[in-house]
Amino acid sequence: QWIYLNGEFVTKENAKISVYDHGFLYGDGIFEGIRIYDGNIFRCKEHLDRLYDSAKSIMLDIPLSYAEMQDALVETLRKNGMKNGYIRLVVSRGPGNLGLDPTRCPQAFVVIIVEELSIYPEEAYREGLRSVSVSPRRNLPDALNPKIKSLNYLNNILVKIQSNLAGVGEAIMLNSQGYVAEGSSDNIFIVKRGVVYTPPCYIGALEGITRGAIIDLCAKLGYPLKEEPFTLHDVYTADEAFFTGTAAEVIAVREVDGRTIGAGHAGPITTRLLQEFRKIVT
Ligand code: PDD
Repeated sequence: QWIYLNGEFVTKENAKISVYDHGFLYGDGIFEGIRIYDGNIFRCKEHLDRLYDSAKSIMLDIPLSYAEMQDALVETLRKNGMKNGYIRLVVSRGPGNLGLDPTRCPQAFVVIIVEELSIYPEEAYREGLRSVSVSPRRNLPDALNPKIKSLNYLNNILVKIQSNLAGVGEAIMLNSQGYVAEGSSDNIFIVKRGVVYTPPCYIGALEGITRGAIIDLCAKLGYPLKEEPFTLHDVYTADEAFFTGTAAEVIAVREVDGRTIGAGHAGPITTRLLQEFRKIVT
């Protein structure tokens, strides 16, 4: 396995970064998780747009142009002979001193890792996940803007710890006002009386690329879709619920906080969206 490390390819064992890297010291950096299906990088432009927007917002100078970054991704895939899998692209602030001042970090550091991926077994997509709501609250845009896909995932990790303790695959995070925001690493959708709902990103959700693909698919398939705030009550009483994410794709939810959602397995709209999603990815 070859890792792209700031312009060089090194083996996994040799893929090391400085302890002075502010990505390590402060979580100062950004990342993307991207899928490759049959040799195609799924929605590459959207991922790179989000990466470069995140970089601009935090004043991080990515040392590669957009085109060079695309080439680096393709080259990393080629070098690994990878046709299906997952790409993790990380840009950290780079090595500096122990202070948090980013102007002391002269050069951002770019890492590309590609790996095979299987996150949930196939039956989970039919049966649905169990889920719980958890206590950590999602950042609102007045703090760390959820549009920035930053390396600061401590909140999401606290969510993951709670979902592990509850023995569930993914959990539901609310924002500080009690509206449903998203999962630890997935966006959330519910379906009620034929209408598909997902929280607007200002509620405190990442503008997920998979979320965007599902919104497009709803339009194509004629499912009415509303981006509007909703609460746990709406999730408990929904006919269907599902998470979306690069790694998870479209995964049904069968139970939330002990309440069975709909029929207790992947509902018809969720199933159709997953089928259609799998058609567009290749
Ligand atoms: N997840 N919300 C959060 C907090 C996330 O970290 C992610 C991405 C999503 C879904 O976004 P997208 O559809 O663009 O992946 C929502 C990780 C990185 C992943 O699924 O790979």
